[in-house]
This record gives sequence, C-alpha cells and structure tokens, in this order.
Amino acid sequence: MTLAVYPGTFDPITNGHVDILRRSLKIFDRVVVALADNVRKTPLFTLAERQAMIVDAVGSNPQVEVDAFQGLLAEYCRRRGATVVIRGLRALADFEYEFQLAHMNRRLAPDVETMFLMTGEDSFYVSSSLVKEVALMGGDVSRMVPRSVAAALADKRKQGVTP
Ligand code: COA
Repeated sequence: MTLAVYPGTFDPITNGHVDILRRSLKIFDRVVVALADNVRKTPLFTLAERQAMIVDAVGSNPQVEVDAFQGLLAEYCRRRGATVVIRGLRALADFEYEFQLAHMNRRLAPDVETMFLMTGEDSFYVSSSLVKEVALMGGDVSRMVPRSVAAALADKRKQGVTP
C-alpha cells in the first residue's frame, strides 16, 4: 500500500487543492492531507479552523486522512511511513520554489519522492492569498473554494477582518 502525503498551509483550502487531492486518490491507496504550521506564513485561519474546512471539503472517504504536523515535512513522512509527497504545480512562478522544496526534502529524506500534479485549468489562477484578498474585499469567490470556506471568509469579513 502506498501512502502519500499532500502537505500545505491550506489557508484556506481552495477548489484547486481539492482537485489535486481527488486526482491523487486515483493514483494512491491512501492520502494524508497534512496541514503544516508553516513558519513562513501568518495564517488568517487557525490550525483548527483550517483542519475543519478541509474535513468538510473532503467529506468522509476512507482513503483520506486529515492531519496536522509541526516541524519538518521529511520527518513527518518518515514517522508516517509515507513514500510520496504530492504537490500541485500551477504556472512557471511555482516552479522555482517547488524545485527547491523537493530537492531539500530529498536531501532530508532520500526515500520520499515528490510528485507534481498539474493544477486543473479552472484553478491555475487561484491562490489562497488571492482568494482571501478578494473575499475580504467583498468579491465573490464561491466558484473557487468549497462552500464552508466561502462561508468562513464571509464571517471574517463580517467581523471586520481586512486583507
Ligand atoms: N490550486 C490552487 N492553488 C494552489 C494549488 C492548486 N492546485 N496548489 C497550490 N496552490 C497555492 C495555494 O493557494 C498557496 O497560495 P498562497 O501562497 O497565496 O497562500 C500556494 O499555492 C501554496 O500553498 P499551499 O498549497 O497551502 O502550500 P505551502 O506552499 O504553503 O506549503 C509546505 C508549504 C507546508 C509544504 C512547506 O512549507 C513545508 O514542508 N513545511 C514544513 C517545514 C519544512 O519541512 N520545511 C523545509 C521544507 S524543505
């Protein structure tokens, strides 16, 4: 059985992420969506909020587990016995960062392979940052994110949160 990890900050999860997850489930027996406490980002949503939105978007599927981790992704994969890391690639801009990440992870965990899935054509322009910016300024993001995410973003706006 191949266990794959789909890591990210998921602040918040978008339909682009969901599409990558769905497609990866056709390839792997089991996928862990692994929410990272990302030191590079200051998330809008708490870890618990992000986790709840992912669970809601994914629904109940015995092939999928939603988890959170701290520390190195390479260590997390080792701990879980995962041999594949899944990442979505949008356009050229993603490449350099993903290239660095994949090589660093390979150095840290040579047995773990990073696999890239090309983002679907409906989502190549979507990012979590853009979705947050648009939603918090009153724009309609309902076609870009799961329903619970759109509702959570609307709540943040009502609370007076600005981009
Ligand atoms: N569709 C739409 N958007 C997508 C997408 C897709 N298929 N795939 C990625 N994105 C977007 C996200 O919306 C997000 O946009 P943003 O930057 O505007 O927020 C961006 O691409 C990437 O976010 P995400 O997919 O959540 O992942 P990430 O880059 O935040 O995750 C980790 C990075 C968590 C994998 C990395 O920081 C990590 O491994 N951390 C653990 C610590 C560690 O091991 N560090 C050393 C790494 S070598």
